[in-house]
Amino acid sequence: MRWPSLLGVILLLRESICDPKIATKSQRFEVREGSTVELPCHVDDLDTDDTITWETSEGTISLDEEKLTNDDSLDVRKDGSDMILIIRNVEPQHSRQFTCKLPANDASVTHEVVVVSSPSVSISPDLSEMTTRKGDKVTLRCQATGNPAPEIQWSKKGGQIERDVTRKGSHSLIFTADLNHQGVYICSARNKIGEARRQIDLKVSANGNQLQGEGVKPWIRTDFGYLPVHRGNSVNISCRFDGNPPPNLDWYFNGYRVKMNDAKFKDAKEYDQREKNYTLSTLEVHNLDPDMFGDYSCQASNNFGSAIEVIHVSGNPGPPELSVDGTSLKWSVQSKAPILEYRVLFRFLKQDTWTGKKSVSADLRDQTGADRYSNSIDLASFLQRGTTYEVQLEARNAEGWGSLARKFVTVDVPGSDEASPGSASTHLVALLVLVTVWLNL
Ligand SMILES: *[C@@H]1O[C@H](CO)[C@@H](O)[C@H](O)[C@H]1NC(C)=O
Ligand SMILES: *[C@@H]1O[C@H](CO)[C@@H](O)[C@H](O)[C@H]1NC(C)=O
Repeated sequence: MRWPSLLGVILLLRESICDPKIATKSQRFEVREGSTVELPCHVDDLDTDDTITWETSEGTISLDEEKLTNDDSLDVRKDGSDMILIIRNVEPQHSRQFTCKLPANDASVTHEVVVVSSPSVSISPDLSEMTTRKGDKVTLRCQATGNPAPEIQWSKKGGQIERDVTRKGSHSLIFTADLNHQGVYICSARNKIGEARRQIDLKVSANGNQLQGEGVKPWIRTDFGYLPVHRGNSVNISCRFDGNPPPNLDWYFNGYRVKMNDAKFKDAKEYDQREKNYTLSTLEVHNLDPDMFGDYSCQASNNFGSAIEVIHVSGNPGPPELSVDGTSLKWSVQSKAPILEYRVLFRFLKQDTWTGKKSVSADLRDQTGADRYSNSIDLASFLQRGTTYEVQLEARNAEGWGSLARKFVTVDVPGSDEASPGSASTHLVALLVLVTVWLNL
């Protein structure tokens, strides 16, 4: 009986001596955005049936080598007594604590990951050179991203920024242009990882346009309300405007300011060209894809008011122009891609939904201009006679259905020459009613 109990003691000892332990110490990892980091977790006296987990406050990442998260950038690798957590293509959201744990005895080690990135800067106006007139109000803005948050600073090449320049935070310079404001303005953004800068060369023309006589509220004009485009192409969207003092112009896309640092507009350019009695502002947009189809608006504002114009840019067909001649409906639609089909929508007077639809196929002969398609149909061929209708139309190309016409048309479809017995009796009843009313008077 002595031997087995001794064996028991040895086993018991072995059990307590060989309790697994995490040997790795907590560390802080500063990692550059986009790079890869490996978080160590070395376990001493690891037994084959001990499990190791990696966790964050959001949940468990892995159980041994099995991944429990669907974050593609995370992976685990077992290497002997090491369970290594690998984070690839590190993003700001990986700035957090990662814990390696032995659930069996609650041992753990927590590493902290801090994602750092060097600054990137954007300025507005997004121009390398800008000419303004004496008396114009100028606002230079600077924005920067990076981690740690960069320090932003405006400076003027070879000198100091004039005292009459108002600073809004460290990001904006606001002033009324005068000759002494000319020069190269540099915005630099710096953190401990790096530095970035952008500059704008400001020129002030002396034949200033200080407010002379009365202020004029801005006016604005566009040549097109709709610009047909091909997916993937580029387009120049422009507006002419003027006012006194000279207005500031801003571009909007579907109601939001167009930001040149937005991924959609990263290759976009905005430029202003002064003509004799107006300024032409152009927004040049590249690589149009369907999420860039929509309403582009230019808004001109000065102290006396503002004015706005909207240009719809799309690969889908534009709003048709409708005209009616008798019962013949004629239309013309702009589209870059060939029109495949039209749909006439109709309803009785003052209804609020288009209850009737009639498809009209398009053919090659419909093309009547570079981007223009026209056709017509006799409404009397499918609408009920002796009835008044409201009529609309839409067209379809490879991108899909386009807009409705800006205004529907109202069409009287006259009754046929031989009045049907139904309508004759209706007339008779009406006549009798009239006669009765008259007799009663
Ligand atoms: C837009 O205008 C610029 C400058 O006038 C010109 O170089 C460019 O070709 C134009 N782009 C398109 C798509 O018309
Ligand atoms: C600009 O000047 C031209 C010619 O001088 C004139 O025809 C035009 O009407 C002017 N436009 C405006 C908006 O004043």
